[in-house]
Amino acid sequence: MVVNNFVVFEGGDGSGTTTQLELVRQRFEKEARERTLPLLWTTCEPTDSVIGALIHSALRGSITLRAETLARLFAADREEHLFAENGVKDRCSRGELVISDRYALSSLVYQGIDCGDALPKLLNEAFPAPELLFFFDIEPEIALGRIENRPVREIFEYLDFQVKVRERYKALLPWYEEQGTVIITVDAAKMPNVVVEDVWKELKNLPIMIKGSGAF
Ligand code: TYD
Repeated sequence: MVVNNFVVFEGGDGSGTTTQLELVRQRFEKEARERTLPLLWTTCEPTDSVIGALIHSALRGSITLRAETLARLFAADREEHLFAENGVKDRCSRGELVISDRYALSSLVYQGIDCGDALPKLLNEAFPAPELLFFFDIEPEIALGRIENRPVREIFEYLDFQVKVRERYKALLPWYEEQGTVIITVDAAKMPNVVVEDVWKELKNLPIMIKGSGAF
């Protein structure tokens, strides 16, 4: 079973998921001036909760955590993101469109590299699958080149790791497909304003975008 109206962006570091979320939001607002569209909630994982803040400290290297602890924190953050009042589940079921920059597949991919498949699988198997998932595919060398001038380098932002990330995404995408999620692989090496059109082309065909707002 998938959560209708729930869309997820996934990809390696520097693949542009955050930039695309902002561009899609702008595209959506422009379109909403001309026709009735549902309410849109753009969100991300790690979230801006206290658990998310702890995760960000670990990603920046300000605190050191065991890989297993980090896996559990991502899952705890996700639990709140999904099931808290006004979280993803609530909003999708009342007819909002929710787009999240990263979700459970990030844990299966990233934490799977550091602590093996079993724990991330166990921690994430109860989270429902999204209706639509975009995988932003790009050569890790190009992706890392895009983010090398950021002031802080995070713990996963190095080439060997990102090569594994890309391989694991490709290997694990069928896991979601089996659950009914529609997977769209986007060529993320293209210019951002071109990529957003590729995303929009798919997004605009979601049932909620055609029917407008209202739960169904
Ligand atoms: P962040 O700086 O928030 O965003 P991004 O790099 O996507 O713009 O980084 C999130 C990092 O956390 C990124 O390296 C992926 C990683 N991550 C996991 O390892 N597991 C997870 O479950 C999630 C959601 C993210």
